[in-house]
Amino acid sequence: MNKIDLKQTYLDFFKERGHKIIPSAPIIPENDPTCLFNTAGMQPLVPYLKGQVHPEGKRLADVQKCFRTNDLEEVGDKTHHTFFEMLGNWSLGDYFKKESITWSFELLTKYLNIPIEKLAVTVFKGNNIVPADTESADIWKSLGINENRIAFLGEEDNWWPNMELTGPCGPDTEIFYWRSNAPVPEKFDTKNDDWVEIWNNVFMQYNHEPDGTFSPLKNKNVDTGLGVERVTAILEGNTDNYQSSIWKDVIKKIEELSGLSYNDELYTASMRIIADHIRAIVMISGDNSGVKPSNKDQGYILRRLIRRMIRHAKKLNINIESNWEEELASIIINQYKIYYKELEENKATILEVISNEKVKFNKTLEKGLKEFEKVTKDIQNNQIDKDTAFRLYDTFGFPIELTEELAKELNLKVDVEGFKQKFEEHQEKSRAGAEQKFKGGLASTGEMETKYHTATHLLNAALKKVLGPHVHQKGSNITAERMRFDFSHNEKLTEEEKQKVEDLVNEYIKMGIPVEKLEMKKEDAINMGAEAMFLEKYGDIVTVYKIGDVSLELCGGPHVQNTSELGTFKIKKEEASSAGVRRIKAILEN
Ligand code: ALA
Repeated sequence: MNKIDLKQTYLDFFKERGHKIIPSAPIIPENDPTCLFNTAGMQPLVPYLKGQVHPEGKRLADVQKCFRTNDLEEVGDKTHHTFFEMLGNWSLGDYFKKESITWSFELLTKYLNIPIEKLAVTVFKGNNIVPADTESADIWKSLGINENRIAFLGEEDNWWPNMELTGPCGPDTEIFYWRSNAPVPEKFDTKNDDWVEIWNNVFMQYNHEPDGTFSPLKNKNVDTGLGVERVTAILEGNTDNYQSSIWKDVIKKIEELSGLSYNDELYTASMRIIADHIRAIVMISGDNSGVKPSNKDQGYILRRLIRRMIRHAKKLNINIESNWEEELASIIINQYKIYYKELEENKATILEVISNEKVKFNKTLEKGLKEFEKVTKDIQNNQIDKDTAFRLYDTFGFPIELTEELAKELNLKVDVEGFKQKFEEHQEKSRAGAEQKFKGGLASTGEMETKYHTATHLLNAALKKVLGPHVHQKGSNITAERMRFDFSHNEKLTEEEKQKVEDLVNEYIKMGIPVEKLEMKKEDAINMGAEAMFLEKYGDIVTVYKIGDVSLELCGGPHVQNTSELGTFKIKKEEASSAGVRRIKAILEN
C-alpha cells in the first residue's frame, strides 16, 4: 500500500510554491438561497475570481467539502459518491497556464509517483469565443506527454462549468489516468472508460453574463480541482474507490455489524451506499448551519440519505434498534475531525439527528404497511399499479423490492416497469431542480442582494442593542426580494421590541454611515469584538466590514458603500426557528 498522504502532500506542495492554505468553506453555502451545497472548490471563491481582492493573496489552495446530489441514486457502484473532497489551487490574476500545468505534472509524477506512461490529457479545441488551446498542448508536450496522448475536445468536454451556467468560466485542460490492469494503449481514446479524469485545470477568463454574453474577467485566473477519493484509490492501486483506505474502517464496521462480507456481491452495493451516506450525513448534519431532516432543500436531502441508509441497513439485516448508526458516525467523525473540527463540536447533534430520523422513519414504515394492506384489499387484476407502487415509495419510503416482497406473499404482481418509468421521470425532475440550484449558486450577486447583506449586519447590531449581547447570528438567507435572519434568543419578540429594532435599523440607514472594508488578523478582529458566525471558515487574515460604531463583522461581502443606499427597512414576520433561535423576515423598500 502506498503511504503517501494525498491531502498533506498536495497542500505542502502548493504552500512551497507560494500558496496560502485556506480552510474549507462550510458544505452549506452561506447567504445563498439558490444553492443547496458547495459542489466545487471554486464556488465559495466566486467573488474573488470575479476580481474582488482576496485577503490571503493571489495564490490559494485548500481541501473543500463538496456534495453533489445528481449522483445520489448512482451510489452503489465502484466510483460514485455524494460527498467528496476536492483539492484545489487557485491563481487570482497571478500565474497562468505554464505554471499551473507544470505544477500539476510535477506533483503527479514526482511527488505522487504516477508514471507518465499512464497519463493522458485533453485540451480545448476552440470555439467562437476562444481559439484552440495550442499553448496548453505545447506545455504538455514540453513536459514529455506524447502527442498521441493529447486530445483536443470541444466545449462539451473542455469548458468549465459549461456553456449554459452563468458566472466565471473558461476553457480547461483535464488530466486522465489509465485505471486498468490491461496494458496502457499508446493512443488516448477518450471514449474508453478506463481512462479516468483525475484533475481539471480551468483557465477562468470569462464571466458568463445573465444576458448570455461572455465578458472578460478582470483577471486571468486558474481554478483547479482534484478528487481526493478517486486519486487515493489510484495511489493505492484500487479500481474500486470503496476499497481504499478512506473507506476501510467504515466498511469493516458494516461487515461486523451485519456479519456479512463486502466481497459477497449480494451485499456490496448496500455496503457502499451505507458507507457513502453515513459520511455525507455526518458532514451535512455536522455543518454549523444546523440543518435538520425536513421536506425541503438541504433537509430533504439529509432525510433521503438517512432513510436510504436505513433501508440498506435493513437489507443487510443490521439490527436497526441497536446503536449501529452511532458506531458508524463516530468512525467518520474521528477520521475527519482534524480537517473539520466542527464535526467533533457538533457530535451530539449529529447523533441526535440520525437517531430521531430513525424513529420517524420507522413510524412512516408502519404507516406504509397499513396503507399497503388498505390498497391490496380490493385490488384489480391481482396487480399493484405503478401509481400505487410509486406512492408507497415516495410517501412511505417503500423501496420497490419491499413492495414486491410483500406483494408476493399475497400472490400479487407489481407493475415494476411502470414504477421504474415513473421513478425515472421523477429523477429527471429533481435533477433539473438540482441543476437549477447549482446554476443559481454560480450566478452573480445582484444589487438587491448586496443591499440585503448590509441590512443583515445592521439588523444583527440593532437586535443586540434592543435584546442584549446574547444575540448572535445563527443563519441567514437572502434573495433579491427579501432577507431572512436567524439569531439566538429565547422568547418571542414583543410588538414594542420589534418596532424598536425596525426603527433602529432605519435610523442607521438615515445616518448615512460609510461601510468600510478592513483586513486584519483573525485574532485582532476577535479581540476587537467582531461578530463572526463561522470562525473556522476563515483563514488567519480576515475581511471585516465596519459600519461606523454600529457594527463590526467578519464577512466576505459584498456590501453597499453607504447605509443610505438601503431605502426603508421593514420587519414582515418574527417567529421561532428552532430551540433558542428566532427568525426575522424583512424587506427593504425604496
Ligand atoms: N472547478 C473545476 C471543477 O470542479 C476545477 O472541476
